[in-house]
Amino acid sequence: MTQLDLTHRTDLPEALRFLSGDYPRDGWMGHPHFARSIQNWLGAHHSFRQMGDVLASKTQRYLNRDTETDTYINGLAYYGDLLIRNLHGHHTWEDRSYFPELAAADHRFERGQDLLESDHVELDALLDRITIRSNRAIQLQTLDPKQVYETAAPLEHDFETLKKFLNRHLSDEADLVVPILLHHKMRA
Ligand SMILES: [Fe+2]
Ligand SMILES: [Fe+2]
Repeated sequence: MTQLDLTHRTDLPEALRFLSGDYPRDGWMGHPHFARSIQNWLGAHHSFRQMGDVLASKTQRYLNRDTETDTYINGLAYYGDLLIRNLHGHHTWEDRSYFPELAAADHRFERGQDLLESDHVELDALLDRITIRSNRAIQLQTLDPKQVYETAAPLEHDFETLKKFLNRHLSDEADLVVPILLHHKMRA
């Protein structure tokens, strides 16, 4: 059986693509039911990807010794906090409000909802690991700066994993959600 978690999934399962043939991705923006709220939601996804890229590249530059420790720690604290707070808020709102609204409008979404909610659990666990590791690096900047480099080293892999998870989750989420919004003229 194919594993559908974010570590193993390479595409959205065909069985969940029940409307995508009628609403191909390249026609979303021009569709008359494409509401500003959909644009805003996709825009939030875009900003999460950008922040993931920024954190990964800042970490890489620091580990290549192209950035001073102070500069790196300031960037890590700022962008790490911004991304993690915004993603947690976004997931909570989707799980509690957005997905139930979509499932009520179209019960075929329920299987996709299960997949997306388990993605959120997997993503949140990764974000918790990143938070613990980042906070340790930030504290060491004051307590023992020589240890920051070694503590930050595993973050390179964590942020690459985060980029991969976000890419898979956000792409599949849009493919599952946008056709339903357009089909049922929701939030227009
Ligand atoms: Fe989302
Ligand atoms: Fe999500």
